[in-house]
Amino acid sequence: MIFPGMVDVHVHLRTPGGEHKEDFRTGSAAALAGGFTMLLAMPNTQPPLVTLESWQSAQTRAQSESLCDVFLYAGASANHIDQLPVLAQHAPALKIYMDQTYGPLYVRGLANLMPIFSVWPTAKPICVHAEGESVALAIGLAAMYKKHVHICHVSRKSEIELIAQAKASGLPVTCEVTPHHLFLTDTDAARLGPYGDVRPTLGSVEDQEALWQHLNSTIDCIASDHAPHTREEKEQPEGNPPGVPGLESTLPLMLTAAAQSRLTTTRLIELLSTNPRQIFNLPEQADTFIEVDPLAKYTFPEHPLYTKCAWSPFSGMPMIGRLQRVVLRGREVVRDGIVLNYH
Ligand code: NCD
Ligand code: ZN
Ligand code: ZN
Ligand code: ZN
Repeated sequence: MIFPGMVDVHVHLRTPGGEHKEDFRTGSAAALAGGFTMLLAMPNTQPPLVTLESWQSAQTRAQSESLCDVFLYAGASANHIDQLPVLAQHAPALKIYMDQTYGPLYVRGLANLMPIFSVWPTAKPICVHAEGESVALAIGLAAMYKKHVHICHVSRKSEIELIAQAKASGLPVTCEVTPHHLFLTDTDAARLGPYGDVRPTLGSVEDQEALWQHLNSTIDCIASDHAPHTREEKEQPEGNPPGVPGLESTLPLMLTAAAQSRLTTTRLIELLSTNPRQIFNLPEQADTFIEVDPLAKYTFPEHPLYTKCAWSPFSGMPMIGRLQRVVLRGREVVRDGIVLNYH
């Protein structure tokens, strides 16, 4: 089967400052091996991408070092609100961390959030890491400022139900869900230990079921939240960094769900390509497509992983559906699941 190139709107490629976890070359190779031809990468780097200078230098490196198209988010910081108008001219969207997670970015309190919502233009989405009541706060700000808010990695039943209500009221809200919140629960977190520690944490079976129930309606995108950390970091006894890699497992998991009739391939393409491109107003990629074998059965992963962290919480999982080939702007870049001219 031929699909359009997939787009992952939520990945961490760790450059600058975290190149021992991932870099543009390894992360974009993992993307191609997972069927993604375009990535939107997060600004919680070291330094964070909260000024035009840091954003531009990282975007320049992304362009020259990546094997697929990579666009970087601008990051919101209470100390750098003056940078937002110029960042808005360049970045596809803004990211606000409304709750604590990995990295240096965290905007605390209404008094800091209001000027950010006020100066960011209407035309480009404001993406939020928001959990629990922060989801309600983000929706309230979307309503008051008439700005498009995109809620990242929705993980709880209450959150997805509130977002459904917001959409029914006509508010400019979209959202994404990760494969780990669709396929794993708190039971897996106990089994995986640090390798299942992620923000938002894995939910209950009830949360998981609610997400599946909203897959054909409320949910706009599937995004991996590819968040690589080394095995060594994950096994540190004093607090491991939260996050799991996902670029290479996302398409296999969603193809497996499609093979089991949990969604149609038409819906899979909407969630992983059409909607991301439309919501973020992304440029067209001419002569770009992927080829999958929807019937192939195997145990994940079939090849050594391309992500620098080299582990996956989905290792050992039976999958149905394999990425065969990727053609990017007329050039074959993946054949039989292998990234060409790479090693
Ligand atoms: C992410 C990371 O490692 O950068 N971690 C995570 O657990 N998801 C940060 C984030 O997306 O919240
Ligand atoms: Zn500064
Ligand atoms: Zn987050
Ligand atoms: Zn993330």
